[in-house]
Amino acid sequence: STPVIISTDPGIDDAVAIAIATSDLSLDVKLICPISGNVSLSKTTLNTQKLLTFFDKSIPVVPGSRKPLLRAAKDASGVHGKTGMDGYPFPEVNLPVDNSMTASAAMHSVVNDSTQPVTLIGIGPLTDIALFIHEYPDDLANIEEVVLMGGSLGRGNFGVLSEFNFATDPEAAKIVFTSGLKIRVAPMEVGRQAKIMPNISEKIKSLGKVGDMFYKLFSKYRGGSFNKGLNMYDALAVALVLRPDLFEEVETHIEIETTGRYTAGASLIDLKGYLDLPNNATVAVNVDAEGFEKWFVEEIAKTI
Ligand code: BDR
Ligand code: CA
Repeated sequence: STPVIISTDPGIDDAVAIAIATSDLSLDVKLICPISGNVSLSKTTLNTQKLLTFFDKSIPVVPGSRKPLLRAAKDASGVHGKTGMDGYPFPEVNLPVDNSMTASAAMHSVVNDSTQPVTLIGIGPLTDIALFIHEYPDDLANIEEVVLMGGSLGRGNFGVLSEFNFATDPEAAKIVFTSGLKIRVAPMEVGRQAKIMPNISEKIKSLGKVGDMFYKLFSKYRGGSFNKGLNMYDALAVALVLRPDLFEEVETHIEIETTGRYTAGASLIDLKGYLDLPNNATVAVNVDAEGFEKWFVEEIAKTI
C-alpha cells in the first residue's frame, strides 16, 4: 500500500476524505496533520481526534500551523459550522495528539524513515506542506507526488478568482507549485461536477453508525444546501490517488498569484499556454460524476 501523509482542516468534506483514506487498504496513512483553515487549529485538531476515535484508528496526529505564512487566518465556519463538524455528537476522544514537534518535522520523520516514496495529500491551506518543502529539501526525493484539492479553473469560492485552500495562504501555495515536485490537483470545478445529491446522502444514511454520522454532518453542511447537492471537494483529492481512471487530467502550468490586490491566491491554470512557462502540475479538468458517486458510496461502506 502507498504511504501517505494528510494535511487537513476538518471540515465536513475533509472528514469524508479522512474516513476514506484511512479505511481504504491500498493507502497506509502514516500521519495526519491538522491545520487552521475551515476553523481554528484547536478545532481541526479536535475534529481529527474525534474522527479517528470514531473510526478506531490510532494514526499519529501532529498539529500544524495556527495561521498562514504571512497573512491572518480566515475561516469557513459559515460553511462547516462553528465547530467545523457540526451536527453529530461524537463520543469523547481517546486519541492523543503529539505536540512535541512541528507538523513539518513530523512529515520529515515519516518521509525520511519510509522505504517507499510518500504521497502528500493536501486538503487544507498549504502552509505546512510549504514549510516541509522549505525546511527539508533533501526529503523531496522521497516524495511520490503531492495531490491537492485546491484552486479553480475559473472563478473562486473565496475571492472573485480564488479558491479557499490556495487563497488563504497564497505564499504557501506558491512554494508548493515552485517546488519541482510532481503535483496533481483537483480544482473546485471537479468538486462541483461531482456533487452528492440527496438520493446519495440517503444511501449513505443507511450505512449503519457511519452512515448516520455522515448524514448528520451533511445535514448541517453549508447551512441547508442539502437539496441542491453537497460539494465533497476534499474527497476528490483522495479519489485522484485511488481512482485516477475517474478523471480527465491535463498537464499544465499553474501559477499562483501572490501580489494581486484583489486576486492574491488565484490559481492561473494555464491550459492554453499564455504564460509560456514549463508544466509544473497536472490538473483534473473532468470527473466521471456517476463513477465518483458509486465509488463514494462504496468507500463509505468500507469504513464500517
Ligand atoms: C476547500 O475549502 C474548504 O472549505 C474545504 O474543506 C475544501 O478543502 C474547498 O474550496
Ligand atoms: Ca479542507
